[in-house]
Amino acid sequence: MATVTGMQQVLVNLTVNARDAMPGRGRLVIRTANASRPGHGGRYVRITVEDSGAGIPPEVLPKIFEPFFTTKPVGEGTGLGLATVYGIVKQREGWVDVESAPGRGATFHVYLPAA
Ligand SMILES: Nc1ncnc2c1ncn2[C@@H]1O[C@H](COP(=O)(O)OP(=O)(O)O)[C@@H](O)[C@H]1O
Ligand SMILES: [Mg+2]
Repeated sequence: MATVTGMQQVLVNLTVNARDAMPGRGRLVIRTANASRPGHGGRYVRITVEDSGAGIPPEVLPKIFEPFFTTKPVGEGTGLGLATVYGIVKQREGWVDVESAPGRGATFHVYLPAA
């Protein structure tokens, strides 16, 4: 997959999840920044997708990147959105961090090697 197509897919999947987590109304923020990570060296670009939605319970958090894992009703969730994000980002030697708690929204950070 071309880099631009891949990044579009990553952004769409994360923003669709943010939408689903904010029925009615909410706040979606997309940010970019230069970044580095201790122990990884080199320069990275960080794309952050943050929502003010329902948040993710701690017992669910470890499963969200698994293929076919979904908490959505049958017919609504495929459970493939985050697995796809993970695959695309890994393929580019990046990684994904998540911060979330119930009622406190969710923040997904995507790190990619700077080009
Ligand atoms: N922004 C978010 N806020 C709350 N929960 C989320 C968010 N993004 C993902 N999740 C949780 O992770 C699960 C897996 O997401 P995903 O792989 O995109 O599959 P799907 O959206 O089809 O359920 C979702 O069902 C939901 O429980
Ligand atoms: Mg999804």
